[in-house]
Amino acid sequence: MPKTYLTRRERFSSAHRLFQQELSDTENAQIYGQCSHPNWHGHNYELFVTVKGDVNPEIGFTLNLKTLSNIIKTYIIDKVDHKNLNLDVPFLKGKIPTTENLSIAIWDELAPHIKELGAELYKIKVQETENNFIEYFGEL
Ligand code: NI
Repeated sequence: MPKTYLTRRERFSSAHRLFQQELSDTENAQIYGQCSHPNWHGHNYELFVTVKGDVNPEIGFTLNLKTLSNIIKTYIIDKVDHKNLNLDVPFLKGKIPTTENLSIAIWDELAPHIKELGAELYKIKVQETENNFIEYFGEL
């Protein structure tokens, strides 16, 4: 059956700080730059969720975009939008909220729900700034 790759974009705004507890502010600044600022800061993130699946021959869709959007909203956007990624998000607990860790955690949250729809999660892309983004394909 023909496979297509369907991508849904969602946006969210969150605060974070990148740091390791055991390091000084100066050491953290050397590693994480401005993202280690002790009093938090925010980003306007863009999340791209790409799903791979068969085109349903009767309907002509791979899956219903509204359903996909609802899943992303319920399991990700509602939990991260206008929240502090270091403090407020259960699925990021104990993780340094880099774009890398965010992408992997989002994959882990979404993959089972997309499987339930009869499709397969193919890629998570998280864009933190205009110039930087991370892509994760579920590879270990
Ligand atoms: Ni930052």
